[in-house]
Amino acid sequence: PLRGVIFDMDGVLTDTIEFHYQTWQRLADEEGIPFSRQANEALRGLSRRDSLLRILQGRVLPEATIQELLERKNRYFRSFIETMTADYLLPGVQVFLKDLREAGIKTAVASASQNVYIVIEKLGIASDIDVITNVYDVDRPKPAPDVFLYAAQQLGLGPEDCVVFEDAESGVEAARAAQMRVIGLGDAAQVGAADWVLPGLEGVRWHHIQAKLNPGV
Ligand code: G6P
Ligand code: MG
Repeated sequence: PLRGVIFDMDGVLTDTIEFHYQTWQRLADEEGIPFSRQANEALRGLSRRDSLLRILQGRVLPEATIQELLERKNRYFRSFIETMTADYLLPGVQVFLKDLREAGIKTAVASASQNVYIVIEKLGIASDIDVITNVYDVDRPKPAPDVFLYAAQQLGLGPEDCVVFEDAESGVEAARAAQMRVIGLGDAAQVGAADWVLPGLEGVRWHHIQAKLNPGV
């Protein structure tokens, strides 16, 4: 039976996607590089560096310049994060976390974001999550399975015990590579390879997930 839930953070627990968009857009404008809200959608789940490389579209820059751009982006992003509160939790998150606690299900967050700890803290849900990890704890970023396997290990569970919640194609791919069940949240064009696609966590209860993924248990 399923015993653990591993959440992606951005786009699953909180809507930082808009903050990421605003900060990448500002950086792109400052550098005279074309960027758009639509282009930002393709960055969901990618690391900061991979996002920048995608935005640069093959432009070659010295490593020192790349580092400066990454630091500037994060500085802008941090100033948004400073303003975050529980109001930035996506609908249904608080209720679902409480439901998981009551059902005795272990919880982890496995994010591509280096800011995962501060964001979880700001959202006020640190005490509801058993394990927090990001891709810097492991060798390979999503779509490699590493961060999900590491999160499961930290929970003391096997891949078969866990279900992942993801909003990004790279994350769904990573969960499948980890041989975990995966619920895709949002746009089926992004998460269509998941075992089940839902619009978001609003109204979702653990017994729904169990019934869908473990019929007969
Ligand atoms: C998440 C978001 C991405 C973001 C990445 C890195 O995966 O979906 O859009 O680029 O985290 O975040 P960071 O906080 O390290 O810049
Ligand atoms: Mg995400």
